[in-house]
Order: sequence, then C-alpha cells, then structure tokens
Amino acid sequence: MFDARTTCVVVVGAQWGDEGKGKLVDVLAERADMVVRYQGGANAGHTVVTGETQFILQQIPSGILHPRVTCIVGNGVVLDPDQLFTELDQLAEKGIDFSGRLVVSDRAHLVLAYHKLLDQASEKSQNIGTTGRGIGPTYEDKYGRRGIRVADLRDLAALRPVLAERVARANRLLELMGSTARAALDAQMALVERWTPRLLPLTADAGLVVHHAVKRGKRVLLEGAQGSLLDVDHGTYPFVTSSNTTAGGAAVGAGIGPTAIHGVLGVVKAYTTRVGNGPLPTEADDPEGRRLRELGGEFGAVTGRPRRCGWFDATVVRYAVRVNGLTGLAVTKLDVLDTFAEVPVGTAYRLDGSACEEMPSEVDLLGRVKPVYEVLPGWRRSTADARRLGDLPVEARRYLDRLEELSGAPVRYVSVGTRRDQIIEV
Ligand code: IMP
Repeated sequence: MFDARTTCVVVVGAQWGDEGKGKLVDVLAERADMVVRYQGGANAGHTVVTGETQFILQQIPSGILHPRVTCIVGNGVVLDPDQLFTELDQLAEKGIDFSGRLVVSDRAHLVLAYHKLLDQASEKSQNIGTTGRGIGPTYEDKYGRRGIRVADLRDLAALRPVLAERVARANRLLELMGSTARAALDAQMALVERWTPRLLPLTADAGLVVHHAVKRGKRVLLEGAQGSLLDVDHGTYPFVTSSNTTAGGAAVGAGIGPTAIHGVLGVVKAYTTRVGNGPLPTEADDPEGRRLRELGGEFGAVTGRPRRCGWFDATVVRYAVRVNGLTGLAVTKLDVLDTFAEVPVGTAYRLDGSACEEMPSEVDLLGRVKPVYEVLPGWRRSTADARRLGDLPVEARRYLDRLEELSGAPVRYVSVGTRRDQIIEV
C-alpha cells in the first residue's frame, strides 16, 4: 500500500462493519509509523490474533501491537476512558509497552455514564439494535453543542456546573422515555476525577501530531471503524451508526486536510455480514447462512450477538467504491468459503420487477430489492496456506477476479485466515 508517493492511507470497511479491518491494519501497521482512529468509539471491536494471543481492541488502534508505531485516538472518536484504561491494562499484562506511543486528541468527545443510560433506555436504539455503548447520545450532544470534550478535564471546577446541567437534562430525557434509570452528578464527577490523572498525560492536539507526521513523509494509516453502509450519511439510514465511517470522515476525524490523503483501501469480506437491524439484501437466512456463521465465527466482537450472514453483494461494494473513492480492495475470510460447492454472488438488484443499479436512498426500498445472483463454482480445497495468488485454486482466483470486475476496484490483499501471516499481497 505504501510507497514513496503514497504515505497517508485510509483503511475503511466497505460493507456493514466486521470486515476484518483489525487484521488488515495490523498487517499494514508493520510498515507504518502511525495509526490513527478517526471516528466511532467502543462500539467497534477489532480482533487481532498474534501467535497464540488474541486481542480485542475497541478504543485503541490495533497498530499498538507493533512496537514502532505511534497510535492516535483522533478528534472524531467518542472516547470511553474506562474502556481505554481496561485495554491499556490488558496490553500491559500481555507485555506490550505503549509508553509514549499513544496520543488522545483533546478535542475528542467523552462518553459519560448518562450517554450509556440514554442509549440503553431509548426505544429508537433498540429498533436500530445499537451496541448500547452510548455512541449515538454522545454524538447527539457533540452536534447539539453540549458535549464534554477531553480538554474540559483540564478544569474540573469549571466542569462541575456544566456537568450538573447535562445530568439534569439526561434525567429529564430518561423520565420522558419512561425509564427509571437516573444519572447522579456526584457519581459523574467522581468518574471524571478518576479519569483525569491517567488520561490527561496522554492528550495533545492530535491533529497537529498527525500533520507533522504527514509533512515529514511518515507512513500514516487512518483506521476507520464500522463499515461504509453504517455511515450516517451514506449508510442504510436510520439503521446506521452516528458518525461518518467513510473515507471523507478520515480527514475530519483525524484533524488533517483531505489533500493529505493518498489512497483508500476498502476491506470487504468474501461474503457479507451485518449485526443489528436494517436491510441486508443478500442475507441467507437458511442452512447455508448458518454454515457461513459457524465457519466464519460470525458473532459480534463487542456484544457477542450472532451476525446475520449472506453472500457477497456487488451493488453494496460498488457503492462503497464510489462513496469512499476506493483505490484498492482487501478481500478477507476467503478461507470461510473453502468447503462450499457453489458460491452465489449478488451482481445487481431488481426492485418491483425492474432493474435497480444503484443503492436506493430509502431503506424501505432497499428492504424490498431482490438480488440477482450469479452462482460461481466453489474450490473445495483449503486456501489457508496460500501466500501468493498462484497458490490459490483456479476457482478461487476466478471468484476474486469476478469480485474485482463487479466492484470496480483492484484487489490488493486477500486474507485466508486469522493469523498475521495468512495474507496474500497481490
Ligand atoms: P451504535 O454504533 O452502537 O449506535 O449502533 C448502530 C448500528 O451500528 C447497530 O446496527 C450496530 O450493530 C452497528 N454497529 C456499531 N458498531 C459496529 C461494529 O463495529 N461492527 C458492526 N456493526 C456495528
């Protein structure tokens, strides 16, 4: 991905999240100097396996596992400091030295306990099937201009009356929602007082840190969370998360200009999954779909919920290529398809009997489309040991060629297992 002219690259999910970005970022981070998380919060769960050890990181970029990489939690992220500290403790326990390698933006918004109460009490959140981590309410406060930012921890005396007003407001909302849960000012203050001494030493003007790295030609990876179809603008609204997961969000959420970015890699599973509610046109709600779930271990990294599974949807990925300006694709979990005799691919949609070439804006229409399938022959051989394209069975190569053709972006990486070394660079 990186070369002399391509030093600042975005990695985004090109479906509904859980595409395996964690592993890709982990592999690419080996060649990077800096990895930046630019949006989302503890709703994301990046699973990375190194040797016998598995790490699930929600707030910290997975680049932290590489000793030379500096990791940034950007201004676009909503930060849950307790989750951050839990992850730091886990890293320390497993012998990862992160001192001086983690910078948290002082412009990032804090997820307070009342945001989680609001998320969990909200009927709307339940309809959407959110992770209940307070993500939506924190972004609502950010855009409502009543958020609490990391920088606000520098003056706790000034923060107390602000927090008093926010807690009172949250309690009024909880009452309106018919919830009996209530937030308490003293408990919130105790929380921020506990966070402050550990968090503030990690904070800085992170955009400036990233800017300097880019200017010096350092290799910078901007890591998106969730997937393009969960983007608040471009996703299957309202069944989306509350941030811009697509590549445009990378500049805003990292604090640099769009002209600093040289390439965008879209991560796609060789099939499709989704957690939470909302349309999923190529969903296979049948024994084949259950087989995908079992073989792919498709259970949410954050909530443990079974993921909905289905076939590769080229209309979705073509759309993701367009809205992200993808310059390459990384196809993950190809090995999950190893035992299937045939592999359907959704090439287009039909809506009420007519061709539908683009993703409809209305979620109801997307719920009604019928995918058109092309059935490709399976390869029925293990791909787990392939390290070059030439090692793959010919049917698997044809499958990848077809995905590339239908999606409109070149395949640059193929992942054939959870381990770091199980990757093919094209
Ligand atoms: P929220 O981000 O918790 O508000 O949830 C909104 C929607 O995004 C729900 O459908 C969640 O299941 C989905 N979602 C949030 N984070 C992730 C993720 O990391 N992977 C997949 N789906 C996610």
